[in-house]
Amino acid sequence: MSQQHSAAPAPTSAVSAVEGRPDWWRDAVIYQVYPRSFADGNGDGMGDLEGVRTRLPYLRDLGVDAVWLSPFYASPQADAGYDVSDYRVVDPMFGTLLDADALIRDAHALGLRIIVDLVPNHSSDQYEWFRRALAEGPGSPSRDRYHFRPGKGRNGELPPNDWESIFGGPAWTRVTEPDGTPGEWYLHLFAPEQPDFNWEHPAVGDEFRSILRFWLDMGVDGFRIDVAHGMVKAEGLPDLGDHEQLTLLGNDVMPFFDQDGVHDIYREWRLVLDEYSGDRIFVAEAWTPTVERTANYVRPDELHQAFNFQYLATHWDAEELRTVVNRTLDAMRPVGAPATWVLSNHDVTRHATRFANPAGLGTQIRLAGDREVGLRRARAATLLMLALPGSAYVYQGEELGLPDVVDLPDEVRQDPAYFRGAGQDGFRDGCRVPIPWTRTGPSYGFGDGGSWLPQPADWGGLSVEAQTGEPGSTLELYRAALAVRRERADLGAGDAVEWLRAPEGVLAFRRGEFVCVANTTGESVPMPAYGRVLLASGEITEAAGEAKVPADTTVWWSAS
Ligand code: NOJ
Repeated sequence: MSQQHSAAPAPTSAVSAVEGRPDWWRDAVIYQVYPRSFADGNGDGMGDLEGVRTRLPYLRDLGVDAVWLSPFYASPQADAGYDVSDYRVVDPMFGTLLDADALIRDAHALGLRIIVDLVPNHSSDQYEWFRRALAEGPGSPSRDRYHFRPGKGRNGELPPNDWESIFGGPAWTRVTEPDGTPGEWYLHLFAPEQPDFNWEHPAVGDEFRSILRFWLDMGVDGFRIDVAHGMVKAEGLPDLGDHEQLTLLGNDVMPFFDQDGVHDIYREWRLVLDEYSGDRIFVAEAWTPTVERTANYVRPDELHQAFNFQYLATHWDAEELRTVVNRTLDAMRPVGAPATWVLSNHDVTRHATRFANPAGLGTQIRLAGDREVGLRRARAATLLMLALPGSAYVYQGEELGLPDVVDLPDEVRQDPAYFRGAGQDGFRDGCRVPIPWTRTGPSYGFGDGGSWLPQPADWGGLSVEAQTGEPGSTLELYRAALAVRRERADLGAGDAVEWLRAPEGVLAFRRGEFVCVANTTGESVPMPAYGRVLLASGEITEAAGEAKVPADTTVWWSAS
């Protein structure tokens, strides 16, 4: 047991301290904090929990309901913390369990909920179980907690099957056995430092139910489940055969992704969560081929929400957007789960840059593009997202309109995918650059000791300080939008939209008294003035009952 275990604070309480509406999560706006890059409390150039704690009032004032924190657990950081070596310990680079406790308590006092990241598909190769599995050798029971297999070929020199790592290269690494000979291979769908657990082994399930309880006892309000679609592998670990794996990913059920067996795990987890009061939730990071398959994760006895990656991957195109909105709502209605909407996170190109890329480029391709167009579309896309029924996710810095940093020098890069050269997922550092708080100063207010990734020279002009109180700034647009959303329950509520007639390239829908129009074209379009303009992402002009909605602009109207 590590020191931090014994120094763990007494449980906050088994009850979340946040007072609030039951079912708060059905229309919640949840803000993703990437702890490395949010705020640095101790001036070592790396964000930390103390930094997050001191900035909680900013998040309360922004108007979000909850904060999801990417992993801050003990980790060798081979994949920025998604390689956990102790699930019950805070990594010293982020603080201590006492800091986590203080953060949870302060958030609750401000009316904010805290969702933590759980990484159950794989551990770090430094996790005690894996180290033991390596040390105890082939045939030992400790190897059964992971996927160890003999290799193929005359001398076992070939990987056991043809699966590829999501980060590039084979999904298998051969170990050197304790006697010094080349031995078995182990499975890692991500980096070699992230061996996949064998979820067929009962100890794995027991351990994760215990980890859930540990953090629930700490008072967290929920979990974001990493690779929620990956834990169960098809029996026998069958070859994929003669396929280009990258073209199958996300388009097909794979022998290692979206297997039906994962749902048994979630039914068990739901029972654990439901023992705790306080309306706590699970949200799945499940990259499935279709929204219909995503809906399986949020059946009434499983998880509460799942990220809508089909929406995230949709271009700034009215027809495509209408289709994905309809399909999402149609898929979620039968299972009674809220739709979710997300445009950016720590794995994809920030949407202010993505929407400036030519349509057809994937979510991971980073080109500088036309920044003005990208930002205009990003702001419009955000207002569209926040007008849809369900829950929305905001990634830190998008409220500042931050673009992706597309020109980071190779020597500062840290993303393991970059080094494994997958192409598909290779450039995630660009959306992880620490965010600017002040116009000037070292690292623009991120901390006193610089920043672990270099910030662009014009970052100060995009800072919270520079945008606060500035009419028309992206930060003020987000603040205003979230304030309207809080005032008017009709925005996030319900499970349907009523589409209105609109010219090609324009989306228009009504929800009760509320009307949203999004012009995705490069031209201004005339639309009926539907009432009082509540908010717009650009300048709307009105005359004689007609409104001109400029290119790439969304407007919210209230009929009352
Ligand atoms: C999804 C996380 O969002 C990503 O950052 C990570 O690399 C993989 N899962 C592996 O844990």
